[in-house]
Amino acid sequence: MSLNSAELVSLFRRELELCQVKPGQTVAVLSEAERRTEYANAFMMAARDLDAQVFNLSLLPGKGAEVLGFSGAAALAGNRPAIEALKSADLVIDLVFLLFSKEQLEIQKAGARILLCVEPPEVLARLFPTPDLRERVEAAERRLANGHELRFTNHAGTDVTYKLGKFPAMCEYGYTDTPGRWDHWPSGFAFTGAGETQVNGRVVMDRGDIIYPFASYVRDPIDFTIRDGRIVDIKGGLDAELLRDYMASYRDPQAYGISHIGWGLNERANWTCHAQGVGGIGMEGRAFYGNVLFSTGPNTELGGANNTACHLDLPMRNCTLYLDDELIVKDGAIVPEDMRVPGR
Ligand SMILES: [Fe+2]
Repeated sequence: MSLNSAELVSLFRRELELCQVKPGQTVAVLSEAERRTEYANAFMMAARDLDAQVFNLSLLPGKGAEVLGFSGAAALAGNRPAIEALKSADLVIDLVFLLFSKEQLEIQKAGARILLCVEPPEVLARLFPTPDLRERVEAAERRLANGHELRFTNHAGTDVTYKLGKFPAMCEYGYTDTPGRWDHWPSGFAFTGAGETQVNGRVVMDRGDIIYPFASYVRDPIDFTIRDGRIVDIKGGLDAELLRDYMASYRDPQAYGISHIGWGLNERANWTCHAQGVGGIGMEGRAFYGNVLFSTGPNTELGGANNTACHLDLPMRNCTLYLDDELIVKDGAIVPEDMRVPGR
């Protein structure tokens, strides 16, 4: 599916309406040189349709570190006038991937809400957010905020426990209408993290589970042993070997820490998207309804001190997850009424 420019403007206008962009508000579209110029233009037109003030701040690609192939944070670093301009906006559309940067935090602190948007048009359209998705994701966030212990298992041998309470619960539902709040379109999951030494057990990724950033499907199980919040062993076949090599290439002991944990709730996400050639950074697998999103590496997003650049998001299907005594996911199906999609 491809969208012509009028369809793109109309899709972006619906998104800005969900973000409660009102006449007279300021929308800043942050882009990088020649990348995503069609998105930048369509967001500008959509904002103008809503009688908002709008401007496009275009930066040259940064010279620093990249996250998922983006150098957005490096492009903005040290550019004081650009940072101040973004802080003055009500809504910043981030087409350059500021995530995890201190510049992003400063912009949020000034009260600007930020919407990250880097996925292909077909993914933006297919996973378009709704207030219903928001409600279900916020129900998950509330559960995680009050949880003490999270345990998940699968038929491949996973049995791992996270002690919660040190870090906040967070969520993404694909739009933002709250001052200072960041979100990512598309999305649909909630997560938290355990204290740095508070994860123990085994995670066995099964065939068909997804490895990000590779966007590849596991072909033979990968068996992680986790002790006191660190991966101490990775066993398996070729996939395990490649993952071991990838993690070792960072030469960083912090790469073996455990990052966020949660589950996906977007019922329109398609697990086989990458097998079908869908591009982008993989929000579809991360937000997939009923997945458990296991991840390794940094926990700065939650407020922790592990800032390793080696971050793996590892969505897993058909898991069973308990939060304290409540069954949340049973063999990949969402159980609680307030998170479930009727008929799923
Ligand atoms: Fe992640």
